[in-house]
Amino acid sequence: MHFLSKKEIPLKEILPQGYVDIHSHLLPNIDDGVKTVYQSAYIIEQFKKLGVKKIITTPHVMQDVWPNTSTIIRSKHTEMNHILNALDIKVSLEVSAEYMLDDLFYQKVKEKDIIPLHDTYILVEMSTFNPPINLNEILFEIKLAGFTPILAHPERYTFYQDHINKFIDLKESGFLFQLNLLSVSGYYGEKVKNTAIKLLSENLLDFAGSDVHNYQQFEILEKGFLSRYADQISSLMKKNNVFA
Ligand SMILES: [Fe+2]
Repeated sequence: MHFLSKKEIPLKEILPQGYVDIHSHLLPNIDDGVKTVYQSAYIIEQFKKLGVKKIITTPHVMQDVWPNTSTIIRSKHTEMNHILNALDIKVSLEVSAEYMLDDLFYQKVKEKDIIPLHDTYILVEMSTFNPPINLNEILFEIKLAGFTPILAHPERYTFYQDHINKFIDLKESGFLFQLNLLSVSGYYGEKVKNTAIKLLSENLLDFAGSDVHNYQQFEILEKGFLSRYADQISSLMKKNNVFA
């Protein structure tokens, strides 16, 4: 039995039918994701081969590092769709963004200059070292603008990792949670992995996402997960059907 519990199940075997990936960095040269059109097309083709029907890719919007405008993001998306068409890669590629909860975001949400994730959701992130001091005020503005925030990779925030109550507070205040699948692979280390598993087992997660930035990460993702987590992960991925 021991060797069975160590067995990895490839992602392809547990991927639910019609899985929609809602977090990735697959528009070229716009953030720390893929650098070229070739890399983008290649990874998108690999997702298609896995059985993924739709990718909603989410470039960073971050004041200090990648202050991408909605216009830039949308034009890169249109360009990439032309390329996928020309190459006959039949995957639906949609676009949103991963918004850092900073001053730029605060301004954007007040102006409703947001590329939502499937109508009324917004994918947001924080620094991994400290939460924004005006978190409640930002959340207020998000709700006032009519959006529902999805917090990307809650398991990666070091300041919440040992405080399960903080996660519960965030959920009660209105955040939904998106697990990075790579966290369960151990890509970000043991602490993140253990936090991810804790959140999974406490049923605190709402959606899954790959957060793939490059081909190396795709290869790790493709390898899958230890069999004892496979059912829970597959059930979580099914929840992404609301974005179909
Ligand atoms: Fe991301």
